[in-house]
Amino acid sequence: MSDRALSSIDQLITGFDRALRSLSRRTQPAARPSPAQGKPEAELSDDAQRHAAGLMRVNHSGEVCAQALYQGQALTAKLTDVREEMEHAADEEIDHLAWCEQRLNELNSRPSLLNPAWYALSFSIGAGAGLLSDRISLGFVAATEEQVCKHLRAHLKALPEQDLRSRAVVSTMLEDEARHADRALEAGGHDFPAPVKAGMTLISRAMTFSSYRI
Ligand SMILES: [Fe+2]
Ligand SMILES: [Fe+2]
Repeated sequence: MSDRALSSIDQLITGFDRALRSLSRRTQPAARPSPAQGKPEAELSDDAQRHAAGLMRVNHSGEVCAQALYQGQALTAKLTDVREEMEHAADEEIDHLAWCEQRLNELNSRPSLLNPAWYALSFSIGAGAGLLSDRISLGFVAATEEQVCKHLRAHLKALPEQDLRSRAVVSTMLEDEARHADRALEAGGHDFPAPVKAGMTLISRAMTFSSYRI
């Protein structure tokens, strides 16, 4: 078999392995300790705990989507000058996924059952955008990260005031995602027009609505 065919099979197996890890209950370990570390666990009422878990489940689904988006992009986009930088962002997404999963466990809850569907959709979009051009691909990453920032800001308002552990995770994620968005634009990403961003808001609302519940 030629080296090229072998490397394609290699890429496929690595991609499949990453997908399974992103979707499994025990995701890859985080490189950085959770921002929740050292924060006291709050005494939450059943309703408040269920609400916090719903919000963290939405964030966890968002991170599954981020994994898929970056993996799709890595497979098809050229990313000549910025591959390392995008890989660094993707590594930070692994931290986010692990932190959200840990927090969900602490809240006696679980990730969304819809994650495989969100993964498949995001991977297809990420790979499709990468096939079109790096400008579109990086623009799509930037627009998605902006969308995630909006969610995280809303969640900081909606999370129970005393749930310092969830809030610490969300605050650090917000800082990271804002940086990811800026860097994708600086790397040459297309700044999508408002109607496209509005369409993305609708899709993300569907994700928020369903992952909060299922
Ligand atoms: Fe993230
Ligand atoms: Fe991000």
